[in-house]
Amino acid sequence: MQARENKIQVSEKLSLPTMGCGTWAWGNKLLWDYDESKDQQLQEVFNFCVDHGVTLFDTGDSYGTGKLKGRSETLLGQFSQQYQGKEKDNICIATKLAAYPWRLTRQSIVAACRASAHRLGKPVDLVQMHWPTANYAPWQENALLEGLADLYEQGEVKGVGLSNYGPKRLKEVYQKFAQRGVPIYTLQVQYSLLSTYPIKELGLKALCDELGIRLIAYSPLTLGLLTGKYGNGVFPKGIRGLLFRYLLPGIQPVLKTLETIANTRNKTFSQIALNWCICKGTIPIPGAKNMKQAQQNIGALGWRLSDSEVAELDQASNKVTRPMVQNIFQTR
Ligand SMILES: NC(=O)c1ccc[n+]([C@@H]2O[C@H](COP(=O)([O-])OP(=O)(O)OC[C@H]3O[C@@H](n4cnc5c(N)ncnc54)[C@H](OP(=O)(O)O)[C@@H]3O)[C@@H](O)[C@H]2O)c1
Repeated sequence: MQARENKIQVSEKLSLPTMGCGTWAWGNKLLWDYDESKDQQLQEVFNFCVDHGVTLFDTGDSYGTGKLKGRSETLLGQFSQQYQGKEKDNICIATKLAAYPWRLTRQSIVAACRASAHRLGKPVDLVQMHWPTANYAPWQENALLEGLADLYEQGEVKGVGLSNYGPKRLKEVYQKFAQRGVPIYTLQVQYSLLSTYPIKELGLKALCDELGIRLIAYSPLTLGLLTGKYGNGVFPKGIRGLLFRYLLPGIQPVLKTLETIANTRNKTFSQIALNWCICKGTIPIPGAKNMKQAQQNIGALGWRLSDSEVAELDQASNKVTRPMVQNIFQTR
């Protein structure tokens, strides 16, 4: 893998930027309060990101359910077709296929990817297994992974990635795919100042480096909590509000350190939190719902925290007494 102009060339056909954009909120009502009136601003976010080299968009076939089935993919398809800027050819749409209980065969994963491609109006660039079933239905997973490798072998995708896999399962899948000559380009895990478990406890960064896999940090702002805008009676509606009320008393060391460094550097909390992910060698994919958020998050690029600032943030993160809850599907 070579770094070229802030892009990591993972293969002849696929390059990844220093930071991407998450699109879970682009079609999800329950957690993120999406409605169609937001589509215009989401398209502006898309165009702005691509123009600024943030060319990786993470989505999933479960982002948008019921009547909004696959809405995030549909929007990304429309936006990428309408985008005419100079970065057009670098756009990478990375979708995640859900390991739904009714997906039992390798063909079901191939069909799921084709359905995503249909919604996108073009082939999927990077296809990822959304989660392993090892924790609850280990017998299901083998066929799904075979299907993922089939997609690469058949040239239907440019690359394959995994999500929520721990080191043990990652090594097993890596070896299995290697026997078929299928490389794993990316692993996506929940990683932020409040969710250091995947690297600190599971050692996934070192393993990914050894295997030549890029580590993608999802929920790098802990669902918005690390932006510093919540607390003091201000909370989002629903489940996020409940979670943030629970977490806040235990995360003060991180918020205080973010504030100090943000003030010294004239940056925002989110810019510091995202830059910390980049300094840790991951590709953060913050979600952005509007231009203000996208513009702010892009300000995380083009500079680096000093080693001592990273160390201060690490120490603050170690003092957190209520870390972000881990994804139930994350394996060891
Ligand atoms: N593989 C998996 O299992 C998995 C799981 C979760 C997420 N993901 C991926 O990771 C992406 C990012 O994670 P996430 O969306 O869960 O959480 P996140 O990136 O940690 O937080 C995103 C939210 O924070 C708020 N925000 C973002 N930038 C902001 C700014 N500059 N100022 C103020 N508020 C800001 C917005 O929500 P509000 O304005 O409502 O606060 C936004 O939707 C997802 O979109 C998805 O693509 C993958």
